[in-house]
Amino acid sequence: MHERTLVDVDRLRSEVQEHYAEVAYDPHGEFHFHTGRRATDRLGYGPELLEGFTEPCVEAFAGVANPFSWGLPAPGERVIDIGSGGGLDALVAARAVAPGGQVVGVDMTPAMLERARRNAAAAGIDNVEFHQGFAEELPVPDGWADVVISNGVLNLVPDKVAAYEEIMRALRPGGRIQIADVCVEVEVPEEARRDIDLWKG
Ligand SMILES: C[S@@+](CC[C@H](N)C(=O)[O-])C[C@H]1O[C@@H](n2cnc3c(N)ncnc32)[C@H](O)[C@@H]1O
Repeated sequence: MHERTLVDVDRLRSEVQEHYAEVAYDPHGEFHFHTGRRATDRLGYGPELLEGFTEPCVEAFAGVANPFSWGLPAPGERVIDIGSGGGLDALVAARAVAPGGQVVGVDMTPAMLERARRNAAAAGIDNVEFHQGFAEELPVPDGWADVVISNGVLNLVPDKVAAYEEIMRALRPGGRIQIADVCVEVEVPEEARRDIDLWKG
């Protein structure tokens, strides 16, 4: 166990992977969060972001807010999407950075990566790659990214300091962070921080 975390990181990762594989395989199942169009509608993803994406591209979306509410990345920019899930935000970013830009989606759950790659192929988007990896070890060189986006992921990462250090390593000087996530404004009791069911939930 890492000294900055109170949970068994391998066990947490494996349970989170199991949970999000269910979302990838059966996005219309019962979850404690909204998925797909229901979620994108609630979070203000308008036609300017979603136009032309077919249902399979949208249905496994499980974000908690809209990282593009701060604006879209510009043509030519390089973007990392941490915890890219079914790939919707990465696809939105990939369209925005064309021509000349590139997007790397990173996720630890193989079922989500498969879905994201299928969605990119179906949408005919070829300036995005999806890699298996962890938020705490991004598969890009130092200073590679102009923009880091993420949606609903860092709350699932036990060592947030490591994740933010990694974001700062991956970003070029002056790069931007557009992160949508769940925040708490009060100290979380130690007992709750040790409870893997609460991390997942
Ligand atoms: C709530 S879903 C959000 C997916 C996507 N961002 C979206 O908006 O649809 C969380 C995703 O984060 C991934 N994830 C959780 N912890 C991670 C970590 N430490 N490193 C990489 N991916 C992680 C999960 O596999 C899952 O696909």
